[in-house]
Amino acid sequence: MDHFHFINGALYCEGVSMDEIAESVGTPCYVYSRATILEHLRRVRAAFEPLSPWICFSVKSCPNLSILRLISGAGAGMDVVSGGELCRAMEAGCSASKCVYAGVGKTDHEIELALRSGIGLFNVESEQEFEAIAACAERLGIPCDGALRINPDVDPKTHRYTSTGNRETKFGVDLVRAADFLRASHGHHWCRIRGLHMHIGSPVYDPTPYEQAIRKALALMDTLRDDGIVLDTLDLGGGFGADYITGQSPAADAYAQVIVPLLEDRVRDGLRVILEPGRSIVANAGVLLLSVVYTKQSGDRTFAICDAGMNALLRPSHYDAFHFIWPTRPAAGVIPAARTMEPELPGLVVHDIVGPLCETGDFLALGRSIPVVARGDRLAVFTAGAYGMSMANRYNSSPLPAEVLVDGDSFEIVRARETYDDMVSHERVGELAPAIAE
Ligand SMILES: Cc1ncc(COP(=O)(O)O)c(C=O)c1O
Repeated sequence: MDHFHFINGALYCEGVSMDEIAESVGTPCYVYSRATILEHLRRVRAAFEPLSPWICFSVKSCPNLSILRLISGAGAGMDVVSGGELCRAMEAGCSASKCVYAGVGKTDHEIELALRSGIGLFNVESEQEFEAIAACAERLGIPCDGALRINPDVDPKTHRYTSTGNRETKFGVDLVRAADFLRASHGHHWCRIRGLHMHIGSPVYDPTPYEQAIRKALALMDTLRDDGIVLDTLDLGGGFGADYITGQSPAADAYAQVIVPLLEDRVRDGLRVILEPGRSIVANAGVLLLSVVYTKQSGDRTFAICDAGMNALLRPSHYDAFHFIWPTRPAAGVIPAARTMEPELPGLVVHDIVGPLCETGDFLALGRSIPVVARGDRLAVFTAGAYGMSMANRYNSSPLPAEVLVDGDSFEIVRARETYDDMVSHERVGELAPAIAE
């Protein structure tokens, strides 16, 4: 579900034409739909309503302050994985007490920041990290709550770079070590381990691995309960899919149908459930808007060379990810009814859609059938709202794209396009102060 659609042959986000945005803001530019974000959040909340979960939006998926403000304003907390993300969440008006904090490499400085800010829950990723948090909490005299991140050893059937819940991963603690750790840390005054956390991968299109992981987590909780150790929190992480291809992802309901029955009774008995959705809220809510700078033939291939590539959207080159791409104003008759890998429409031409960077890996799509494009045409890269801008980089000294948030018939720039001056401002030797830690 999203609010990007063609009206009279031109692509719109809600009530605003993408061409109008491009003319006013330029390209490359990320365009987000407010209505899509709020609707996705509403759907997750409604689907899991029987569990009354604490929903913590995963900041890493789309960390723009205005987006965080929108989601926090709709009542969600935040899942953060760094001091920087915690600062963003707070700057966007989300109290640290509504934030959960995961991440395998929390530094002492970050731990201190989280404690002083009143973090809601540390998702503890290792025994050493627990020691560091407990020591810091004691030094500051600020007790805190934690959940132990377990890796339940299930296969989320997703890209190997984003599979995070198998036994041999850097994330969390395996189930055998977890039981020992929970017994040893039980009753700690400064860091009270109240529950378990997991995040099995992303995107996870099949709800079954969640079922497997939850059953393992509940079995661990039951074993500990027999030893007198009661855990009252279960954080399921994120990972729900998004529609890169129309209809590709199960709806929030489909995940809930599997997850809710496993946990309903436990919630009635006092279990607190946490969800950390990112992609499922924002992926379909964002489009990357590009301009075609040149077209050219090379051998048998036809290239559309755009004003950004893997610098603005890393997913195709990094994960081999599919993003549907279409001109914002295609020739008559070539408006796609659905976003598919091989649209069956007249007059399509196979293109390699690439960026300007000096790298053969700089592509957005290879061998893709799209309407023929010319210099100056604009392309929309769909389902780019998650892990799009958040993974954008400045390779080849490319300034970061602008970001725009559409609300009905109007839009607002929520991140100014970076200037060349911005780009070099941290490198002007002589003007630089040491900035080891804030
Ligand atoms: C700990 C944790 N929680 C939540 C998420 C969000 O996942 P998704 O965007 O797939 O919902 C991630 C993503 O990597 C994560 O690492």
